Amino acid sequence: MSLFERTGLALLRPLDPETAHSLALKALALGLGPRGGAVTSPRLACSLAGIALPNPIGIAAGFDKNAEALPALFAAGPGFVEIGGVTPKPQPGNPRPRLFRLAEERAVINRFGFNNDGMVAVRPRLERARGLGVVGINLGANKTSEDRAGDYAQVLDHLYDVADFFTVNVSSPNTERLRDLQGREALTAVLERVLSARARQSTSKPLLVKIAPDLDEAGLDAVAEVALALGLDGIIATNTTIARAGLAGRHAQEAGGLSGQPLFTRSTEVLSGLKARTAGRLTLVGVGGIATPEQALAKLDAGAGAVQLYTALAFEGLSLVRRLAQDLDALLADR
Ligand code: FNR
Repeated sequence: MSLFERTGLALLRPLDPETAHSLALKALALGLGPRGGAVTSPRLACSLAGIALPNPIGIAAGFDKNAEALPALFAAGPGFVEIGGVTPKPQPGNPRPRLFRLAEERAVINRFGFNNDGMVAVRPRLERARGLGVVGINLGANKTSEDRAGDYAQVLDHLYDVADFFTVNVSSPNTERLRDLQGREALTAVLERVLSARARQSTSKPLLVKIAPDLDEAGLDAVAEVALALGLDGIIATNTTIARAGLAGRHAQEAGGLSGQPLFTRSTEVLSGLKARTAGRLTLVGVGGIATPEQALAKLDAGAGAVQLYTALAFEGLSLVRRLAQDLDALLADR
């Protein structure tokens, strides 16, 4: 970590975490972040549902919801960035405070509720970022929408030509009843709708679904079967959890989704469970609690073709991306 980054993090720490994150994004957008571009090597180069990646370390959805800092994010060296969740209409999300740091646990709890600028505002930022690196869009649905499947399809339509892959997010715990869309019938209906929106395009870009770590075995069966039956490209495992097992501390019982260290084991189990169910027929992306190269490697070993992270970046700064990629390369070289 550079002196600049260390000082920046120290200055931001006492602030309300949401204010700290927006200031950090603004600083990044001004070009005040780590530089160097994508880390790559023959060992790190890989593919995400057919898209070539320089390395398998991605920045997860939610970090740059509105695509405000893509040049700076790519300068930090990730293999890909997923922006969003983006909804058709802009929406403010839940009342603040809605982001809580659990520093001892290296975790955060958020209940943002898809606050974002909406697909129309995000589009020109994505246009400007074309060519910088692989960009995915986390598709979201408006809180008050009566047709959530239609919302995902609309965002895909509007942003289709300015991104490389799309994720149907049916696993945010912060939009009421959204996670019900993970059930067999509901998921089939939603994905069929988004797949037919994709089929109207002249190209076929990868479509993934992102799931919750709180699904039980039958829930995982359903997701895997539906994804395979519909010919989806992949699954991202996992989103944040509503579980709070073993957590103490001031903010432990805040409502919302928990991410970071306490999520690592469960999200990796879900990944292995999906690997066993899909046997190489789908691309899997591993996310949840990654903060070290060993943890990134554990996700790859559990079946992920690529990984993503968010919470560890909030604690350690964006320079973690480059260190993780370089150290992962060294671990792979030792095999
Ligand atoms: C998220 N995450 C998330 N996921 C998603 O699919 N759409 C979203 O809009 C968001 N927003 C969001 C906001 C905040 C503040 C956090 C902390 C997380 C979930 C994120 O992409 C990831 O799946 C989890 O955070 C688990 O990874 P980490 O953070 O443990 O590395």
